[in-house]
Amino acid sequence: MLTKAPRGTRDILPDEVYKWNYVEKEFSELCKRFGYKEIRIPVFEHTELFQRGVGNTTDIVQKEMYTFLDKGGRSITLRPEGTAGVVRSYIEHGMSSLPQPVKLFYQISAYRYEKVQAGRYREFHQFGVELLGAKSPSADAEVISILALYFDRLGIKNLELNINSIGCPECRSKYNEILKDYLKDKIDSMCPTCQDRYNRNPLRILDCKEEKCQEVVKNAPSLLDHICDECKKHFEAVLERLSIMGIPFNVDKGIVRGLDYYTKTVFEFVSKNIGSQGTVCGGGRYDGLVEDCGGAPTPGIGFALGVERLLLELNSQGIEIPEPEAPDIYIASIGNKADLICEKLAWQLREKNITCIKDIMDRSIKAQMKYADKIGARYVLVLGDNEIESNKAELRDMETGDTKVISLDTLVDRLVKIKCEGSL
Ligand code: HAM
Repeated sequence: MLTKAPRGTRDILPDEVYKWNYVEKEFSELCKRFGYKEIRIPVFEHTELFQRGVGNTTDIVQKEMYTFLDKGGRSITLRPEGTAGVVRSYIEHGMSSLPQPVKLFYQISAYRYEKVQAGRYREFHQFGVELLGAKSPSADAEVISILALYFDRLGIKNLELNINSIGCPECRSKYNEILKDYLKDKIDSMCPTCQDRYNRNPLRILDCKEEKCQEVVKNAPSLLDHICDECKKHFEAVLERLSIMGIPFNVDKGIVRGLDYYTKTVFEFVSKNIGSQGTVCGGGRYDGLVEDCGGAPTPGIGFALGVERLLLELNSQGIEIPEPEAPDIYIASIGNKADLICEKLAWQLREKNITCIKDIMDRSIKAQMKYADKIGARYVLVLGDNEIESNKAELRDMETGDTKVISLDTLVDRLVKIKCEGSL
């Protein structure tokens, strides 16, 4: 127990962190280029925020939240996603008085008590974007285009963009009646959760994960065929803009998404390479959420991208991520006097942003050389009594085997120059 991380969580070890750093940096740079600013929100919120925001009849709220009472007796929940927290922050900090729209992005961990499998964890990570205050189809297209460009930048090919419209609350309430009518003689064969949802929120039945329920809903009438003219016009305008940008998509009438806040456009990017958990990213419009959470009516749209799934996809497509650079130099020393000089040299080199490693294990010179080799240091310099006396030492390029004798006084400047030029 003590030496095993809880089920569904995993350490991101030093050997893979560079991949995370890479995708994080690319994502934040791209978002900034679209005019989005980073927001950081708390890991936990009041439970009520998710009950209201994500929705009481969703799987997330009914089955998957990490909820507990804190020592003050308040019900607290670890965030299962980022949108509700961002919206809460938008309201709390009066962001509606900022120039609109407000464009935010985030990189967060999230927590859901789910059945663990490849690509599905209990602690996972999301990159997300929330665009608040813009209701035009152009906003939907912009948000989707961030993802398309991001995947393109990373070299990811063949992710399918599936898109749908689930209409506004008015089309939804009309559709709910049509759906209930379709389900009325089938509902008894469905799971207890769906039976409960039949009256409370029939749309949620469409994304039940139980096989027997999926069998029933696969022939249900689709919402897209029942949306109002205004929602239809909005959807067509979004598709037109995606076409203009050359972003391929499939209209998929089956997408309803597992969170209650969505209105109009919903979309997912799906991979065929990473198994059953192939939805790399999901998002959509949520024009009622700010109001539902206590703010003024404000349209919104966003997405969240699962970072673990993104990395699985990069791996499955054989996309190489640039590895971190090895140390520039290892300075080996023989004896205490030389070690003191090494200490000073290492300090001077680090001041000049040269990645320098020196012995701190009191190793023999043989063991130091072995270690320098193991860590892949590009250059090695050995300092012993002779070198101190002559004030010169041999600098060896471990890649080419070339050597050069360098005056110790000029070592720092020489290395800065060598680093710029790339070789001895
Ligand atoms: P979501 O579809 O629940 O949407 O999650 C978005 C993405 O997070 C999924 O497509 C998946 O890649 C990843 N994900 C979800 N659950 C897990 C899990 N248990 N393990 C690993 N990855 C997971 C949302 O969270 C919405 N907040 C998206 C959004 C933002 N809509 C509008 N704005």
